Amino acid sequence: MSNETLLEVEGLKTYFHIEGKVAKAVDGVDFSIDRGETVALVGESGSGKSITSMSIMQLIPSPPGKIEEGAIKLEGKDLLSLSEREMMKVRGNDIGMIFQEPMTSLNPVFTIGEQLAEPMVKHQGMNKKDAKKRAVELLKLVGFPRAEETVKEYPHQLSGGMRQRVMIAMAMSCDPKLLIADEPTTALDVTIQAQILDLMQDVKKKYNSAILIITHDLGVVAETSDRVLVMYGGQIVENASAKDLFTNPKHPYTVGLLNSMPDVADEKERLESIPGTVPPAHNFPDGCRFAPRCKHAMEACTEAVPKLRENEPNHHVRCILYEDQGGEKE
Ligand SMILES: Nc1ncnc2c1ncn2[C@@H]1O[C@H](COP(=O)(O)OP(=O)(O)O)[C@@H](O)[C@H]1O
Ligand SMILES: [Mg+2]
Repeated sequence: MSNETLLEVEGLKTYFHIEGKVAKAVDGVDFSIDRGETVALVGESGSGKSITSMSIMQLIPSPPGKIEEGAIKLEGKDLLSLSEREMMKVRGNDIGMIFQEPMTSLNPVFTIGEQLAEPMVKHQGMNKKDAKKRAVELLKLVGFPRAEETVKEYPHQLSGGMRQRVMIAMAMSCDPKLLIADEPTTALDVTIQAQILDLMQDVKKKYNSAILIITHDLGVVAETSDRVLVMYGGQIVENASAKDLFTNPKHPYTVGLLNSMPDVADEKERLESIPGTVPPAHNFPDGCRFAPRCKHAMEACTEAVPKLRENEPNHHVRCILYEDQGGEKE
């Protein structure tokens, strides 16, 4: 592990056992995140992005879910070996998470100030007065000019964008080493989305933390990320710098995602969506999981799941088309 590595996910498998079937939501995922890095996890709905992040946080509903295999190391320490009590500390102090839907994550009966202060008292042992002061500071940091007033307000008094800012303040309240944001902006309009993402970058710089941003929207990725992990059928199919991924995409799925991206510069261009749908996690095809939708598919594709290989320096791809080029051999 280099000094810069913050999080390492190795061979992660998270399955759901339901009515005699096994849904392989996350099925052998490997990646790492360096300090100061913004990494995006992208893929269509149902590809296993949220279950990956919830596995890192160990918030998988169990049963029916279970982390079957793998390691999740934060600064070299395997989180999967921790007790629930120790893991609660990690959630309170080391990793902050912003969930998809802000209204469900804020409690309607407590003020914004109370909800921000509570985890600081609980996890960091702050007294109530200091926690209240810090709540005001955090709200200012995330762009509430009248933060002294905002702490006294209730969630329903704020707009969706404002509530999402509160969620960021809350996730940042422990100065986390890693901020995980699961589709943090999908419910928001485009201008607010851009503001929220800028804000996350500012906060990241201030604390030298890392961000894992989960999104199905590649447009978001281009603006904000250093590196991109493309996920399909519970597996990473491509891992490259954002620049490489946009200029030199390799996996046919990545190419499909890029082609289905609206191009603001050329309004007339027709979008080409990827035919078919993500296979259900309890019924993956044999071989490459994307093969049934892939225009390059050949017989060999249905025989074995391709390995994720380093095709060019720091550019990994899981596709038989690239197996003869570069990378290590089995
Ligand atoms: N609570 C659950 N019970 C059973 N299966 C689940 C549950 N949550 C997720 N899954 C399975 O895991 C797959 C991936 O889910 P998820 O990680 O939420 O996808 P994404 O976030 O990429 O849209 C789903 O398609 C489903 O098969
Ligand atoms: Mg999701």
